[in-house]
Amino acid sequence: MRRITLLMLFVVLFQACHFQQNKKVSHDKLINTITEQLSYFPEIKDTLGLKNTSRIFPRTLTPSGKLHLVGKRDWTSGFYPGVLWSMYNLTGENQWKEKAEYYTLELESEKFNASNHDLGFKMIPSFGEGYKVTKNEKYKAILIQSAKTLITRFDEKIGCIRSWDHNKDKWDYPVIIDNLMNLELLFWAWKETGDSVFYNIANTHAKTTMKNHFRNDYSSYHVVDYNPETGEVVSKNTHQGYADESSWSRGQAWALYGYTMIYRETKDPVYLTQAENVANYILNIATLPEDYVPLWDFDLKDFKTEPRDASAAAVMASAFFELSAYSSQNKDTYVNTANNILTSLSSKKYFNTKGANKGFLLKHSTGSKPKDSEIDVPLIYADYYYLEALLRQTKINNQTKN
Ligand code: GLY
Repeated sequence: MRRITLLMLFVVLFQACHFQQNKKVSHDKLINTITEQLSYFPEIKDTLGLKNTSRIFPRTLTPSGKLHLVGKRDWTSGFYPGVLWSMYNLTGENQWKEKAEYYTLELESEKFNASNHDLGFKMIPSFGEGYKVTKNEKYKAILIQSAKTLITRFDEKIGCIRSWDHNKDKWDYPVIIDNLMNLELLFWAWKETGDSVFYNIANTHAKTTMKNHFRNDYSSYHVVDYNPETGEVVSKNTHQGYADESSWSRGQAWALYGYTMIYRETKDPVYLTQAENVANYILNIATLPEDYVPLWDFDLKDFKTEPRDASAAAVMASAFFELSAYSSQNKDTYVNTANNILTSLSSKKYFNTKGANKGFLLKHSTGSKPKDSEIDVPLIYADYYYLEALLRQTKINNQTKN
């Protein structure tokens, strides 16, 4: 009897080791595939010569399939440096760190750019991620200045940071759901400087958005326009979604990621409840396909003609991994969902190999369907959040192992 028990124990242990071993092999294989695919990205600074252009940040492909590079003022400029920092974190290889440092510093002058709300999108993946790795004091000073610039767009009466200055004929004071992502820069500055002004502005923006951007089912509007005289809501509509009353997929992903991050920074339980409510809404969306990569708007159903948005899926995967750490009740659901999304995004259907699409990792993202712009293409921020999700998955797997 004792012998049988020992044998069974041996079999279970052997299977567990074998499973971990397989997991490690497939993880290492994936990192090799990612490394190989990214090696096809043209070495931009060498290829173009920096004196001739300031457009050095890859964003997407043009309709004719050429690499579309943007300048530092573009909202996506921080994601390529972010991809490079993630690669350094995943591999520990110095070549990634050197490149990351180079592209990060190219963004420095953005610290004074107060022309829109995008400072968090630009500075967190670049200087923020770089600071975690290097503790470089120069990065710290740039991040603090960026936060100071961002808060100049806050209005006390409205309780929000103004997102855009364009389309003045359409909106007086537009605030978009994406803006939650920029608050991470302010929470960072609060923790580093101890200056509560950053916390108060971020917290107020988060509360105002929670009050005005969400429907009863916890889906989110894209744009809420405010009256700067009275602080009241004037209209709720969309810019990148299918309809004012529909749920633009990436907007829902920003909401999920946003409130998860805000809970991490504040530990205020109302934000955890909000993140879980948004998660619950997303998980019960009837149009969410089996592979968890949604169409560009949740209200659309026609999978034959409408493009998907892999970037929304990548943002959701990363957010679900983080949220799983804060929710004992739904931990498994969130981890399983995030794992499923990553499995889909790492499959042939969504992942480019052998240099296809110029070295971008993911295919099938959609920038703005209503503007007929960036439809069913690779997007640099899809790659960034995919890698962030992979890093979060690795961390969770390592914790389970230990
Ligand atoms: N923040 C812009 C976008 O998600 O397209």
